[in-house]
Amino acid sequence: MNDLTDDRRDALKRKTIGVLMGGLSAEREVSLRTGKACGDALSSLGYVVRSIDVQRDVAARLVAEGIELAFVALHGRYGEDGCIQGLLESMAIPYTGSGVLASAMGMDKVVSKHLFASHGLPIARDVVLRNPSDLVTFRGAADLPFALPAVIKPSSEGSSVGVTIARDEAELVAAVGKAAALKGDILIEQFIQGREIQAAVLDGEALGAIEIVPASGFYDYAAKYEVNTTRYLFPAPIPSDQYERACQLSLDAHQALGCSGATRSDMILAPDGQLYLLELNTLPGMTATSLLPKIAAGKGIDFPALCERLLLGASLKG
Ligand SMILES: Nc1ncnc2c1ncn2[C@@H]1O[C@H](COP(=O)(O)OP(=O)(O)O)[C@@H](O)[C@H]1O
Ligand SMILES: [Mg+2]
Repeated sequence: MNDLTDDRRDALKRKTIGVLMGGLSAEREVSLRTGKACGDALSSLGYVVRSIDVQRDVAARLVAEGIELAFVALHGRYGEDGCIQGLLESMAIPYTGSGVLASAMGMDKVVSKHLFASHGLPIARDVVLRNPSDLVTFRGAADLPFALPAVIKPSSEGSSVGVTIARDEAELVAAVGKAAALKGDILIEQFIQGREIQAAVLDGEALGAIEIVPASGFYDYAAKYEVNTTRYLFPAPIPSDQYERACQLSLDAHQALGCSGATRSDMILAPDGQLYLLELNTLPGMTATSLLPKIAAGKGIDFPALCERLLLGASLKG
């Protein structure tokens, strides 16, 4: 590392860093694990770290703990969607990851897909149901411009919360009902049969791509966080031109939303070699089994070094 980085590292070691974790979203438990892992890693490197379990009183906690820099280890609503980023901007506390607008757009699958499409990036066909107004007239598969199966997603939850595959009419109706119970609009997407690829970007550079082989054939919440049957293949064992395209697509998606720090893009590689971008995560999981650390490790960046890279990138973006 160069002198500038060394100077910045020294300066940050004199600051009180708040690791913002937990939070108020459905992904609270994962965030607590991310925060613990990152906080431990930063402490091991000599940083002064305080854990902040983000609740409604977070602004008062940041002041009381004398937090000068925030390492955002939150996921989901309030943490990944621009809310906490807006608070930190208002309080002039530099923070890791993407800014307010990029976070808000990345969190909303409908908005981010529109933006990806406007940049010419490949996405699956979809129908958006405004919740609740469009639900009254929705007639099921007859209203879709593509055949089932379809994937039903709430526009703004993560970690496969509320994501369902519908193979027939009854499953479609049930899945839309389930998604309607959550806040926000509903995305009904054409199901793309193919291999699950995720690629990561760090500081404006593509890090690499990993293939996920879930035992159940669907990378759901349990496969992500609870069972050990999922296999991760890094680097993704796909032809090199497809590998390059996956990396480029993650970089294009990162830039389309104007992201900072690290992002991870989820995609499907169809048998004909076509890649489909599903979503971009502006605060990828950072637990021991998470994918961004696995991809970074393949590039020779170990977990503490990855946390430090994120920290060094902390800034106000507004
Ligand atoms: N259009 C699709 N075709 C096939 N599988 C999909 C599709 N959309 C989502 N999936 C599956 O569902 C998982 C979760 O969807 P994703 O859009 O990444 O939302 P999130 O990770 O926020 O829950 C994906 O990793 C993939 O396994
Ligand atoms: Mg995903």
